[in-house]
Amino acid sequence: MLKIGMIGAGFVAGFHERALQSVRGAELAGLCATEGADDLARRARKDGLGNTEVYKNTAQLCAAVDIVCIFAPNFVRVEVMRDIAQAVQAGAKLKGIICEKPLARNVAEAGTMVKMAGELGVPTAYFENQIHMPSVVEAQRQLAAVEKSMGPVHLARSAEEHGGPHEPWFWDPTTQGGGVCCDMGCHSIAAGMYMLTPGDKPPNYLKPVSATASMALLKWGKDPWLSKLRERGVDYSVTPAEDYSSVTIQFEDPETGIRSVVQATNSWMYDAPGLRLLMEAFGPGYSYTVNSLQSPAGLFISDAAATAVADSELALEKAQATRGALILEPNEPDLYGYIAEWRDAISAFQQGKNALLDFEYGRLITMLVMAAYMAHEKNKVIDLTDSKVLQELESYVPLIQQGKGAQVLVSG
Ligand SMILES: NC(=O)c1ccc[n+]([C@@H]2O[C@H](COP(=O)([O-])OP(=O)(O)OC[C@H]3O[C@@H](n4cnc5c(N)ncnc54)[C@H](O)[C@@H]3O)[C@@H](O)[C@H]2O)c1
Repeated sequence: MLKIGMIGAGFVAGFHERALQSVRGAELAGLCATEGADDLARRARKDGLGNTEVYKNTAQLCAAVDIVCIFAPNFVRVEVMRDIAQAVQAGAKLKGIICEKPLARNVAEAGTMVKMAGELGVPTAYFENQIHMPSVVEAQRQLAAVEKSMGPVHLARSAEEHGGPHEPWFWDPTTQGGGVCCDMGCHSIAAGMYMLTPGDKPPNYLKPVSATASMALLKWGKDPWLSKLRERGVDYSVTPAEDYSSVTIQFEDPETGIRSVVQATNSWMYDAPGLRLLMEAFGPGYSYTVNSLQSPAGLFISDAAATAVADSELALEKAQATRGALILEPNEPDLYGYIAEWRDAISAFQQGKNALLDFEYGRLITMLVMAAYMAHEKNKVIDLTDSKVLQELESYVPLIQQGKGAQVLVSG
């Protein structure tokens, strides 16, 4: 039984606690966070996930577990990884390190994460749940023979949209790394690339060729939304970030030279029932579609009953309403791929290997996200086959991430 320890006890850690209820071979042994650890540990114990203890710091947590998970905010990634490295050097025997998406805010930070993990020699998992979504995986499995005879997918459209993040640090481009493209574009670019990748090839098989992007601040830069954000300590009139992003990345199959395209679309203005993941893959003569809001289940809550609603997010992530006809997703940790990503990581770590997606893969996704920011900032196509461009990306920090988004964002 592998012992899992989570650093961070907020939104995503809560989702993982739900996912772990469907995962064998591991227990949630410990938590360490600046806030929320006691509550989550209590819940985990009640849910039978083990004798979940709260630890004061990363060093103590690492000494008590086999797998440590970085579920803290993006701006403390490198600092947390450094603490993990020190714990290992002090004798902690880790069998795996997991990091939530994005691996980092920019390529330099992602490189530091990869380098530190490499020096420790501990297997890694980059948690990008969307490529583990059972609907995507099953569509690919059922189409495997068709893909083999007709050829791989040539166009993948991938979108994640909701009405905006829950915590102020997500909105602040300096702490999160940007706006919706860094936060959710990393999902959609990875999912799109995965949909294009031939079934018998690894997830980093395709060669990135070029990136174009268009980003804007369409909703949250104007009142009353601007003022609502100000109340939460984020001022988009001073440090704006994009709430809309459309990225197109071209890839090449290194064996056949055949080109394929990902269109990744993300927004924080999806004023609709809740989070929607929309994927469409088009191959020669076949296609598949995933829409996470098409549930067979629903709720209805009348105006008279609405005051009794405990928490609308119990029914659906980022739910925006508490009454009327509501969509119900009964098992979101499964729907979004959290359970499958855990099963993959646990099985890999038991064998002393990296998960399907490792930190190096996370670094690749960070590079593609940064290429998108560069394309928008320079208003040009970014040539990802040019070694000078790749070199430039190594140290590139987008103006939006620097807090200078006003220079490059047209506000709606
Ligand atoms: N896969 C997904 O769909 C998904 C969804 C949400 C968040 N995430 C990712 O998960 C990470 C966490 O996001 P969240 O929504 O849970 O954030 P959150 O703000 O809800 O929770 C963050 C947690 O980390 C703790 N924390 C902050 N600084 C810390 C530090 N230095 N050491 C230890 N703990 C610290 C906080 O107290 C809190 O418990 C982010 O990187 C985010 O991108 C992924």
